Amino acid sequence: MTDQRIAIIVGSTRPSRICPAIAGWAHRILEPSPLSYELVDLAEVDLPFLDEPLMAALGHYEHPHTRRWSQTISAFDGFLFVYPQYNWGYPGVLKNALDFLFTEWNGRPATFLTYGGHNGSASVEPFTRVLTSLRMNLLETHIEAHIGRSDVNQQWQLIDPATTLEPVRGRLLEIDRQFRAAMEPTA
Ligand SMILES: Cc1cc2nc3c(=O)[nH]c(=O)nc-3n(C[C@H](O)[C@H](O)[C@H](O)COP(=O)(O)O)c2cc1C
Repeated sequence: MTDQRIAIIVGSTRPSRICPAIAGWAHRILEPSPLSYELVDLAEVDLPFLDEPLMAALGHYEHPHTRRWSQTISAFDGFLFVYPQYNWGYPGVLKNALDFLFTEWNGRPATFLTYGGHNGSASVEPFTRVLTSLRMNLLETHIEAHIGRSDVNQQWQLIDPATTLEPVRGRLLEIDRQFRAAMEPTA
């Protein structure tokens, strides 16, 4: 175990969401890594809609919830965002959480696991653009996971996350390798 911490951001917050099951699966797979992976659930962070008078890039936060979120994110060295495709984009709650901060994201290695009936593919380009605009250091590899009707029960809960996500397990391990490489001190 190193003291380098990667946040696995749980990027959907609606009741009955499947995001925690997917992020939890990723957490279990990544547990043996020398990096410390930790779940950060946006439902627990519970930010309001962006209510700061000044844009984050100016670095003056008026609200305690913004300062708390800044402290949370500043404590991490990298980010793995886990989120569903929503209407060919990504959840508004995730964009809101990103928009609250700026320098806290800058230069940090980051990637994402998106999922959906069409593998989350339509969200990749817009989400990548947002991470780039926040000056994150994008890893080469991301994950697009397929969630089909046979993967969920009548309440739209994953029946067996490990089986559903097995096809992307290798990519997750590759992401861990890339995070470790990004954290290596340069000579
Ligand atoms: C607002 C909304 C938009 C959605 N848009 C898409 C979509 O564009 N493509 C897709 O394959 N599934 C879409 N779905 C289905 C989601 O993939 C599915 O509901 C998934 O469980 C959402 O993740 P969550 O449960 O973690 O919120 C959408 C679901 C919601 C609630």
